[in-house]
Amino acid sequence: MTESSPLHVMVTGAADGIGLAAAERYARAGHRVTLLDVAAERLGARVEALAAEGLAVRGEVADLTDPEAVRAAVARSVEAFGTPHIAISNAGIAPYIELLSCTVEEWQYVVDVNMTGSFVFMQAAIQAMIAAGVKGAVCATSSGAAFQGRVGGGAYSASKAGGLMMARVLAVEAGPHGIRVNSVAPGLVDHGYREGLGDFVPAEYAERARGFTPLAHEASAEDIVDAIEYLCSERAAHVTGTYLRIDGGASVGQYGSPWSREE
Ligand SMILES: NC(=O)c1ccc[n+]([C@@H]2O[C@H](COP(=O)([O-])OP(=O)(O)OC[C@H]3O[C@@H](n4cnc5c(N)ncnc54)[C@H](O)[C@@H]3O)[C@@H](O)[C@H]2O)c1
Repeated sequence: MTESSPLHVMVTGAADGIGLAAAERYARAGHRVTLLDVAAERLGARVEALAAEGLAVRGEVADLTDPEAVRAAVARSVEAFGTPHIAISNAGIAPYIELLSCTVEEWQYVVDVNMTGSFVFMQAAIQAMIAAGVKGAVCATSSGAAFQGRVGGGAYSASKAGGLMMARVLAVEAGPHGIRVNSVAPGLVDHGYREGLGDFVPAEYAERARGFTPLAHEASAEDIVDAIEYLCSERAAHVTGTYLRIDGGASVGQYGSPWSREE
């Protein structure tokens, strides 16, 4: 994989937020980018806007809860843009559901999107890389919620923790093929709190999060893309099976301890 020649980069959840920022970054760097998302209208608008800049982009509408649709989307992408060199499994949902009243259907849906959907996508991308002998890189977007829990975030935390371990085991299996698999685990990200985050990060939670974050502000989508880009680059040639937390230090200050004697 040489980064000087254009790569094929596939990104899920690319119609908004972190996924869109990643797609834009790679496309503007001259790479071919497949943007996959379930939100057909939003995806269409994003792809149209990037194509109008003269960039090599294409959209794939697929629901991660539908394994056949995901595999077909990956196959069409390979047909159109060649074997992927980079696959970014980023789509995710974070509904507020308290575990004590969560139905099996609600639980299953979160797991289906965040964990099983990510598994199917990464498996399909890695299988394509192996078949073509491409020594590619894969990055999954996990979350600080894989390590810390909060009321209403049980299914999300479980799906992100499971997804993180799944990605690490994929690294073990894909490593002998020269394929690396890593994850990023963002803390709170402010990309405008657009649709999809629902009531998981209401303003008062964001305010409280700043209080236990040493850097005292949210990450931008660009901050997360910087980490994804590093993990998928040749600079991380010997990095696999691990994760990078990008949370302004929130994982250290999670318990609300004062930062200084003055506080
Ligand atoms: N925003 C944060 O504070 C934060 C923090 C930690 C981790 N994350 C993780 O980062 C990732 C991206 O988050 P974001 O904040 O950019 O979210 P977002 O809601 O802005 O974007 C997520 C995208 O995923 C798509 N999507 C949802 N369900 C899908 C499905 N079934 N099939 C295909 N696409 C689907 C949505 O349509 C949307 O375009 C997620 O995995 C999220 O859990 C976000």
